[in-house]
Amino acid sequence: MKAAAKAHTNIALIKYWGKRDESLILPMNNSLSLTLDGFYTTTAVEFQENLTADRFYLNDRLVEGAEYRRVTAFLDRIRQAAGRPDAFAEIHSTNHVPTAAGFASSASGFAALAAATAKAIDLPVNEQQLSIMTRHGSGSACRSIYGGFVEWEKGIKADGSDSYAVPIAPADHWDIRVAAVILSSAEKKVLSREGMRRTVETSSYYPAWVDSIPDDLAAIKDGIAHKDFEKVGVIAEANCLRMHATTLAASPPFSYWQSTTFSIMEAVQDLREAGVPVFFTIDAGPNVKVLYLPEQEETIRSTLLGIPGVHDVTVSRPGQGVSYI
Ligand code: PMV
Repeated sequence: MKAAAKAHTNIALIKYWGKRDESLILPMNNSLSLTLDGFYTTTAVEFQENLTADRFYLNDRLVEGAEYRRVTAFLDRIRQAAGRPDAFAEIHSTNHVPTAAGFASSASGFAALAAATAKAIDLPVNEQQLSIMTRHGSGSACRSIYGGFVEWEKGIKADGSDSYAVPIAPADHWDIRVAAVILSSAEKKVLSREGMRRTVETSSYYPAWVDSIPDDLAAIKDGIAHKDFEKVGVIAEANCLRMHATTLAASPPFSYWQSTTFSIMEAVQDLREAGVPVFFTIDAGPNVKVLYLPEQEETIRSTLLGIPGVHDVTVSRPGQGVSYI
């Protein structure tokens, strides 16, 4: 009754932004991501006869409160599916992220937790079922089941049985790089759950966002297939800006950006004007991810580290999907 798994986080190039069903975590739009080798979570799950509740340790610290309840509620689903509603587990999870500076680890965390729990409780699942299961923990996590480029199909069914990730191209398809730029002070003020809800309910720009997705997706998939960096970068950056624009038109309006976020965006655009192919994308927080090709490594690193307010830069290559350890 024990198993351990490893999963990497992912960065969306076409963002998931907005739910059509909050409890089942069903998205309004398809999204597309790249799994990153630089950030991952390892999780060991052991079901024990003597336990009357789960025990969850994150980075060797016993977790309580809301974070604990989110994990046990997630395990409840897997226990039910396995026909073992009274089986409880001790869970040890370790996040391998460079710092705690505002970097979300829910994607790698829930993907590793789903894989290890299903295996420990002897619930046979294929990758598609694992992706659906993981989606219930955190939407974007369902993409971390696979390595490389991954699309999350929103599905059309009300029960969510057709809302899962599918692999588009494996990690070794294309050696592109993603620099995660970590800001000195990167506190996130509006959680993605609340940000999505407010945007869907109140932003007059939201319908335009949803309408823009099919064209972006078709074009970026073509760009990935042909390793057309310019095409992929232009679409990813524009898609990110369009997502963030929806938050400015929400009521009350909000933004995830800080002044250093702008400085990095400007630096990327300046590099591009100087002839360096480089693009940015930003999730529901102030940190920026910078996309470039391996030959630009030194230029990108030194430029980013020279921006005031930048604390650190961690470089990722395309990463692998979930594995068992
Ligand atoms: O899965 P969540 O609730 O952490 O939402 C993630 C939303 C974005 O990071 C902004 C976009 C995405 O597709 O990952």
